[in-house]
Amino acid sequence: MTYEEAQSLIEATLPEKRYIHTLGVVETADRLARLYGVDIEQARLAAMLHDYAKYFDADMMRQVVIEENLDPSLLEFDDELLHAPVGAILLDRAYDLDPAVVSAIKNHTTGEPGMSRLDQILFVADAIEPNRSYPGVDTLRDLADRSLEAAVVATLRQTIDYLLKKSVRIFPLTIETYNHFVKTP
Ligand SMILES: [Fe+2]
Ligand SMILES: [Fe+2]
Repeated sequence: MTYEEAQSLIEATLPEKRYIHTLGVVETADRLARLYGVDIEQARLAAMLHDYAKYFDADMMRQVVIEENLDPSLLEFDDELLHAPVGAILLDRAYDLDPAVVSAIKNHTTGEPGMSRLDQILFVADAIEPNRSYPGVDTLRDLADRSLEAAVVATLRQTIDYLLKKSVRIFPLTIETYNHFVKTP
């Protein structure tokens, strides 16, 4: 799948606001890929496709989790977690994507322990793209220019903080990813 094909698909699939977010993620992922020596074409394609399934029907996505033997604990948490792994598998089924791109899409919400630098770039770019606005986002942007791994940790910390403040449960993979990337003193 070329970047142009992905762009046409995403422009036709997502509402305008989410499409604008997506273009911001592409721009940021492109910049971080250049900065950290990661494949720029893979970063741009993964970023363009990452929210493909964002507005898909939750029951349909749960069905895909069951059919494709994805982590069954996805069914016990917020539906927001479904669009990354389900989007990755549906896109791969339809377009036979590069496994590195599939992995980055799959991991963009929760992260994964030991995730690749391409995965890390999409994970961080999603959180700091220019249209994002929340307390602390500028600190995250500065950090992302200095250390990709530090930005991954800070993004995870901000996600976990947010979930704690909302008093909702935290998907174990997010905690496992945090534990993996935090350096022991
Ligand atoms: Fe997403
Ligand atoms: Fe996103």
